[in-house]
Amino acid sequence: MQPKLKSKVHCSDREVGEVTSVIVDPLSRQISHIVVSMNGHGERQVGMGQVQSVTEGAVQLRTTSSEVVALPAFKRDEYVTSHEVEIPHLEDNIHVTPGEVLVPFPELEKSVKRRTFFMNFTHAIGFLIGLPIAFPILRYLMKPMYAPFDNDWLSIGNVGKIKQDDIGVQFKYKKKVKEAYMPESEIEKNVWILKGTPAVLEKVYQGKDMEFRDALGKTIWTNKKDIPYVAFSGKCPHLGCGYKWRQHKVLGQVFLCPCHLSIYDASGKVLDGPAPRPLDALPIRVSAGGAVEIIDMEFKAGTKSQIRII
Ligand code: FES
Repeated sequence: MQPKLKSKVHCSDREVGEVTSVIVDPLSRQISHIVVSMNGHGERQVGMGQVQSVTEGAVQLRTTSSEVVALPAFKRDEYVTSHEVEIPHLEDNIHVTPGEVLVPFPELEKSVKRRTFFMNFTHAIGFLIGLPIAFPILRYLMKPMYAPFDNDWLSIGNVGKIKQDDIGVQFKYKKKVKEAYMPESEIEKNVWILKGTPAVLEKVYQGKDMEFRDALGKTIWTNKKDIPYVAFSGKCPHLGCGYKWRQHKVLGQVFLCPCHLSIYDASGKVLDGPAPRPLDALPIRVSAGGAVEIIDMEFKAGTKSQIRII
């Protein structure tokens, strides 16, 4: 059983308060801590390792009340709620009131090499075992993927909603898709657009216009380096999660992906986390009246180079 909000928290000697939030590790999607309101004397963050048992409406800790009181005060501003970041399938793992799940803002995470190695190794073994069985089936199912890319322009809104330079603003749009043998359906997608200052544009374009080509290498569009609007695909280049524009306590305003804590600056450059490349810039054009259009492209996740898949 997992700790519930408002459960009474008992130490080995007495009751100390009640659970006001739970903190979730975004990698494992498990509760790592509970936040305890100390009967009007602030809040403390208690690790699940200190939890001896959980029953309906009560949490029993191994520690004494004085040990819990001695913990540092809980700093709520170092967390965001699960409303603000999207952690895929979180609700499959835990059952608490939405919004009361807190997720830590990432510390700069550098120790992902070992995890990445084992993940890649496992994927490679699974791939080799399954290949002979899966190949004929995949070839049939994936035939539509070899259709030419769709390079149509999509209208997604007006840049009038961008009020400040170098601030990411999310634009949502609907797109019709036809996946393999499934009937055509409409899905909601999003891109992040910002109006870049010259410094940010320089980082995005590195002094050169950005060309987008079709499968045959023919240029289909060029983003001019001095047009201030930049569109980034809404998918994190690490494994394709949705990310957000957020305030980081050390880095200031950043794009933050909660899945594995990749962090990007306003130009899409990776500041931290496992992302192998910057955010994917998309073709964008803006009319004199501010109507904004993009070409919806998707690129393979997890690769250093940009490989278009949609
Ligand atoms: S999907 Fe892994 S960091 Fe974004």
